[in-house]
Amino acid sequence: MSDVTEITACRAADGAIRLHIGCGTRILPGWVNIDAVPRPGTGAVRMDLAALPYGDGTVDTILAEHVLEHLDFSEESRVWPELARVLRPGGVLTLEVPDFTWVCATFLAARDEWREFYRVGHPDHYAGCGRDLRQRWGILQTMFFGNQNGSGQYHRSAYTEGKLRALAEELGFAAIRVGTVFNKGGQALRAELIR
Ligand SMILES: C[S@@+](CC[C@H](N)C(=O)[O-])C[C@H]1O[C@@H](n2cnc3c(N)ncnc32)[C@H](O)[C@@H]1O
Repeated sequence: MSDVTEITACRAADGAIRLHIGCGTRILPGWVNIDAVPRPGTGAVRMDLAALPYGDGTVDTILAEHVLEHLDFSEESRVWPELARVLRPGGVLTLEVPDFTWVCATFLAARDEWREFYRVGHPDHYAGCGRDLRQRWGILQTMFFGNQNGSGQYHRSAYTEGKLRALAEELGFAAIRVGTVFNKGGQALRAELIR
């Protein structure tokens, strides 16, 4: 893992600064790929998302797919303003998070048939239910609590379209677009916030 000091000047060939936060194993060329978990040999770096080493309005774009729900309430209150601070006017924050309203509705409509304990390290970490959305205690419970199959793989907060719109307004974003996609076994909100 590179040290943060090595990458603060990291930009793409076109001079843009693109931050990919919570990249996991998905390394994007031309982006500063950031993750809390060391991933040796990938070029990914570790940064405090609440204290990014970038000046105000210096970052062109930020991609945050399935990571913001991993922040606890305190981190959430510090990271969101930090993302807004570093983005340049017109810069875009693209994010994807589980659609908590959909998760709740799908959970309530699903069968309440507990099958087996979660087994740490087991390839099917869906407690014997696979990705069956008709079962409450399979993949649906991981949309509430995270996969819990490694460091950082816990969900600590949740998002609805209303919350995303309120955050955009609170932080002074100029515009927001919110849609839904089906990804990682469930419905997610995908939003673009324009600084
Ligand atoms: C569910 S994975 C998503 C990975 C990738 N974005 C994707 O969509 O496939 C969440 C990732 O966020 C990372 N993560 C969690 N908390 C983080 C934090 N505070 N700073 C940076 N990365 C974090 C985890 O280590 C994990 O790799």
